[in-house]
Amino acid sequence: MEQYVIKGGNPLVGEVEIGGAKNAALAILAAATMTDETVTIENLPDVRDTNVLMQAMEEIGVHIDRIDRHTVKINAGNINDLVVDNEYIKKIRASYYLLGALLGKYKKAEVALPGGCNIGSRPIDQHLKGFRALGAKADISHGHICVETEKLVGNHIYMDVVTVGATINIIMAAALAEGQTIIENAAKEPHVVDVANFLNSMGANIKGAGTDVIRIRGVEKLHKTEYSVIPDQIEAGTFMFAAAATKGDVTVKNVIPKHLESISAKLIEIGCEIKESDDAVRVVSSKPLTHTHVKTLAYPGFPTDMQPQIAVTLALSEGTSIVTESIFENRFRYVDELTKMGANIKVEGNTAIIEGVKKYTGAHIDAPDLRAGAALVIAGLAAEGITVVDDILYIERGYEDFDAKLRGLGAQIEKATDENEVQKLKLKIG
Ligand code: UD1
Repeated sequence: MEQYVIKGGNPLVGEVEIGGAKNAALAILAAATMTDETVTIENLPDVRDTNVLMQAMEEIGVHIDRIDRHTVKINAGNINDLVVDNEYIKKIRASYYLLGALLGKYKKAEVALPGGCNIGSRPIDQHLKGFRALGAKADISHGHICVETEKLVGNHIYMDVVTVGATINIIMAAALAEGQTIIENAAKEPHVVDVANFLNSMGANIKGAGTDVIRIRGVEKLHKTEYSVIPDQIEAGTFMFAAAATKGDVTVKNVIPKHLESISAKLIEIGCEIKESDDAVRVVSSKPLTHTHVKTLAYPGFPTDMQPQIAVTLALSEGTSIVTESIFENRFRYVDELTKMGANIKVEGNTAIIEGVKKYTGAHIDAPDLRAGAALVIAGLAAEGITVVDDILYIERGYEDFDAKLRGLGAQIEKATDENEVQKLKLKIG
């Protein structure tokens, strides 16, 4: 089991380059199977989740050429199996994007039920509702989601909840359906827009992505394209809160500042200074941080994927803060770990009541999931003494070179593979 050993207490200072958005990349990789022509995808993050998805795609006959670390050429002209059941695919959430993509192109697909982070119940009823509305049979059988139809026909679909995954899945299937599909109460996240832009660059006809009504006029087929994935809003936000919590001065580069507005607004509220330029945001944390209230919401609200990172920062800020999680019900599992470091947080239902403390002290803690894991690393960077974070596999699902990027900002963080190494590193950096 890999672990991070962190010696906290240094303010993070400098510049960090943000990679392509994991959640956009996952959907775009799946959507790339919707043409027989070769698609080039750039700015792909080299993280575990994208690599697992590509491996599963290769297993059904998709040809993937890795041009360099962040560029792939994908040809899905010879898919020979419409059943996706790779050993690892069950662990990632985005496996379900192959349903919409393959259903659109082949009118049939079967994908093992998705896993992903354990952050609460993660139903797929809205995906199934969407596929059924387009005329497909959609059932769950023997742990697989099976979708099939003779033909897909556009429809008017009202989503019961705002869901990123179902919105993207329906867009993909509808892109190759007959006639027009209208999705109401659609998710507006930047990656929904990115996937729509990608499909439009392949010849799809999708309008309104980024608003809550998306109109898709089905086309007969899609063609080749070259496309660059948008920057990762959550990776950027994670470094922004790391700067705040460590009293640092960090510029996140290669970002779209508009996508970071809800994050920047909260940082300003708690006492940071934010300087935006065209493709960078600088966070300066030089004053004592203060409390705030925050509730996670669908975009453009404050992202649920940033909830642990803001909570870790608020737990070091003066006064009482309240964090309400409105998207996933089980997203406070990191609180017990943070308590070991001296945080004073009480969770009641979907709300965390945080009494700010003056400092964290290093401890041996577990990363319970991807974003909470990254948040606990931030806590370790801000803490007095040494913190060991276990289960960093979770963090590597979504952050490329997280430790190296942090070292570039002056952090003392090293990766260890066993307890012996942990002890050696403790001596080296302690
Ligand atoms: C995606 C992101 C995840 C992020 C989440 C919310 C990926 C791979 N993951 O997850 O990092 O935290 O968006 O921004 O992109 N829901 C239903 N029925 C459904 C689908 C969802 O009730 O069929 C509910 C969920 O339980 C949740 C809410 O809708 O309460 C939002 O979920 P959704 O946006 O679908 O999340 P994911 O696409 O799974």
